[in-house]
Amino acid sequence: MLTVRICQHQSCRKKGAAKVIQAFRSLAPAEVTIEPSSCLGQCGNGVMVLVLPDQIWYDRVRPEEVGAIVDRHLIRGEPIRAMLYRKFHPTQT
Ligand code: FES
Repeated sequence: MLTVRICQHQSCRKKGAAKVIQAFRSLAPAEVTIEPSSCLGQCGNGVMVLVLPDQIWYDRVRPEEVGAIVDRHLIRGEPIRAMLYRKFHPTQT
């Protein structure tokens, strides 16, 4: 079962974290848990989004990008490589 944590702390909030969590809540399938999170320790790169249990991180997520994450990652199980947080998901090439 997937859980998506969306940082709602100061720096991410300034970047629109409330709209990002709202988009996940309206678009994600019912079986996915959507959770607000306190600071994820990556301030300045927000809005930070963490998908559990696989620990997949997305940075600088904008509300208009949430639909793609929902369709491709949460529904089809294919994380969107181009949007991943490079600090924790360095490119393999
Ligand atoms: S405020 Fe979002 S990672 Fe720190």
